[in-house]
Amino acid sequence: MRRAKISVIGGGNVGASCALWAASKELGDIVVLDIPSAENLVKGKMLDLAQCGPVEIFDSSIIATADYKDTADSDVVIVTAGIPRKPGMSRDDLIATNVKIVKSVAEQVATHSPDAIMIIVSNPLDAMVFTAWRASGFPTNQIVGQAGCLDVARYKTFIAQETGFSVEDINALLLGGHGDTMVPLPRYTNISGIPISNFISEDRLNEIIERAKMGGGEIVKLMGTSAYYAPASGSVQMAEAIIKDKKRILPCAAYCDGQYGIDGYFIGVPAVIGAGGVEKVIEIDLNDDEKALMENSYSAVKELVEIVKTTFPELAEATV
Ligand code: NAI
Ligand code: 2OP
Repeated sequence: MRRAKISVIGGGNVGASCALWAASKELGDIVVLDIPSAENLVKGKMLDLAQCGPVEIFDSSIIATADYKDTADSDVVIVTAGIPRKPGMSRDDLIATNVKIVKSVAEQVATHSPDAIMIIVSNPLDAMVFTAWRASGFPTNQIVGQAGCLDVARYKTFIAQETGFSVEDINALLLGGHGDTMVPLPRYTNISGIPISNFISEDRLNEIIERAKMGGGEIVKLMGTSAYYAPASGSVQMAEAIIKDKKRILPCAAYCDGQYGIDGYFIGVPAVIGAGGVEKVIEIDLNDDEKALMENSYSAVKELVEIVKTTFPELAEATV
C-alpha cells in the first residue's frame, strides 16, 4: 500500500515540530523543504528525527530538501515558511515579508503537487491563506488555514487547568480570524455535554477567554519567538483528518461563500475535514452579541487581505 506523503514547507520551529508530530503518528512519508541556506540545518534535524523511529516505532521516511521536485505528488502540504513574531510585534507586522514567501511557495506547490490539500500556517494567517489560494489557483476546498485548532486547544487547556478535569472531556468552539478579534463561544463550550456555566463563573470564563485570545503573545513574551509545539500539533491534527478521511469537524480558516454573511474570504469556522480537504463549512446559530464579534473579526480579516491585494495586485483577481 502506498504511504501518504506529507510535505512541510519551512523547516524552522513549527515545520520541524510538524514533522515530529506527523512521524510520531506514523501518518506517512515526510519531506521537509527549506531554502538552500537552511538546507543543511534542516537535513540535520530530520536525520536526528528519523533516528527516533526505532525507539518510537515509526517507519516513515523523513527527508529534508531545498528542491521542490522531492515534494512532488504530496497528499498534504503544510506551509510554515516565513518569519515569526518577535516581542512587541503583532502577527500583522509580518505581512510584508510573508506574503512574498507564501506566494512563491504556493506557486511551487501548485506546480509540483496539484492535487494536494494545502494547510497554511504562516502568519498573519487569514491573509496568508488568501495569498496561497490566489497564488496557487487551487479550488477553495484544497486550501485551509490552521489557527482554530491551536486557539481552541489553548482555550481547552486553560479550562482543564481551571477545573481539574481531563482535557479529553472539554468540548469547545471558536470562530473568526487568528488574532485578537477571534471569537470563543461560551454557549458552545461544555465538559462532557454539561454546560461550562456549571463549572466556571461568567467572569472567570471571560478571563480565560481573554487569555486564550492573547495566548500567542503570552508565549512570544516568554520565549522571544512564537509558539511551535501546539501550532504544529494543530496542523498535524488537520493533516491526519485529511489523510485518514476522518470527516472531523475542526475549527479552521475555510473559504466562506455566504456562510456567516462572509463572501469570498477565508476565516475561522467549523469545517468538515476529510480526504477532500474542506468538505463543508458548518453554519451554526449565533446570537446578536456573537454576530457582532464575528463581524468585527471579519472586518479585521478584510483589512489584512486588502493589504495583500494592494501589495500584489495580481493576487487581487481570482484565477478560478
Ligand atoms: P522559524 O523562523 O523557526 O521557521 C521558518 C522557516 O521558514 C525557516 O527555517 C526559514 O528558513 C523558512 N523559510 C523562509 N522562507 C522560505 C521559503 N521561501 N521557502 C521555504 N522555507 C522558507 O519560524 P516558525 O516559528 O517556524 O514560524 C513559521 C511561521 O508560522 C511564522 O510566520 C509564524 O508566525 C507562523 N505561526 C503560525 C501559527 C498559527 O497558528 N497559524 C502559530 C505559530 C507560528
Ligand atoms: C500563535 O498564535 C504566533 O500565531 C502564533 O502562537
